[in-house]
Amino acid sequence: MRIGVAKEIKTDEYRVALTPAGARELVLRGHDVLVETTAGEGSAFADADYERAGARTVSVDDVWTQSELLLKVKEPIATEYPRLREDLVLFTYLHIAADGPLTRALSESGIAAVAYETVETDDHRLPLLAPMSEIAGRLAPQAGAYFLEKPRGGRGLLLGGVPGVQPGRVLVLGGGVVGYNASIMAIGLGAQVTILDKSIDRMRYLDEILSGRVSTVMSSALQIESSIAQADLVIGAVLVPGARAPKLVTREMLGVMKKGAVIVDVAIDQGGCVETARPTTHSDPVYEVDGVTHYCVANMPGGVPITSTKALTNATLPYVEEIADHGLAEAVARDRSLARGVNVLEGKITYEPVAEAHDLDYVPLVNVLPLTPA
Ligand SMILES: NC(=O)c1ccc[n+]([C@@H]2O[C@H](COP(=O)([O-])OP(=O)(O)OC[C@H]3O[C@@H](n4cnc5c(N)ncnc54)[C@H](O)[C@@H]3O)[C@@H](O)[C@H]2O)c1
Repeated sequence: MRIGVAKEIKTDEYRVALTPAGARELVLRGHDVLVETTAGEGSAFADADYERAGARTVSVDDVWTQSELLLKVKEPIATEYPRLREDLVLFTYLHIAADGPLTRALSESGIAAVAYETVETDDHRLPLLAPMSEIAGRLAPQAGAYFLEKPRGGRGLLLGGVPGVQPGRVLVLGGGVVGYNASIMAIGLGAQVTILDKSIDRMRYLDEILSGRVSTVMSSALQIESSIAQADLVIGAVLVPGARAPKLVTREMLGVMKKGAVIVDVAIDQGGCVETARPTTHSDPVYEVDGVTHYCVANMPGGVPITSTKALTNATLPYVEEIADHGLAEAVARDRSLARGVNVLEGKITYEPVAEAHDLDYVPLVNVLPLTPA
């Protein structure tokens, strides 16, 4: 199959959908890999690296017109809509439930749009979202520690303390993938860490694997109010699947927080779990409300593209190989996780929450493709 890798043109996006190592794997399987010139630059991969791996570097027009399967990181933006076409499989983060114009552009073009974020295993794991949650979680204490420094508007506190001086306190709201990864980094910095979650099973698991190095506490409004008053750094990491994040920290609660404390609301991409949170960017990441610094970067992994690009390719490559080796129809017939990723096909919306979000007809994938392996 001819597999294209397009350069990302969204502001502040430096990731690329395939590493040279990934390109080499595809070439070894007999596929033809076309990489748009300078697509890997933001992630420190030169055109020559892809060429050495056996890929060809081509122009933006060629990558879009000659590919049968096009790999991207972010959704197409309006200037790319005219490039969408029938006979092309697009595999990328799409998030179209929140994007009416793109949903229309995809269905009108006849393209097959497979979304990384809705590829879902039978046990409800999201294998192509998890690596980005791991990265955002690991970045959160790093960002929080930086903005706790006095010259950055923070309290002026070192999270780890030193011998003879107490460490800082980190409160993690939600102990899922983000919360767990944030916790291990915060522990590594030497902070005192408390995780609030709603799931006893999850807290049991965290307690076991973190060998008692964190306190786990049942999440409730009263508990949040009392924990937040003691925290130097609060990390928002809750997720209620298919819904906006619950507003666990109200504006009123900011009043009990220490002046110069920091909130990193990682859940901002689902609306944020802090009432006063609004999305920010890497170029302007923080703002202050009632003496509390808010860090709400909606695309945290974008700040560390070298790591993110490699983690993304590690996760996507097995699915890319399935589509490339068998074609989309046979690949989704063989793998139900991948089938759940198909959002738009032959002009029809095949992912129910997207159809619901835009009040469009939902057509189950099985009505469009036979879904029986050859
Ligand atoms: N900003 C970014 O760049 C970025 C990157 C990756 C992920 N995220 C976001 O981070 C959030 C967390 O993602 P995740 O992968 O860790 O999800 P996850 O499903 O692994 O974990 C969410 C956790 O929240 C807990 N929870 C639900 N309601 C709660 C409540 N009321 N109080 C306390 N805990 C509660 C759940 O029990 C679960 O353990 C999501 O909104 C995700 O989209 C943001």
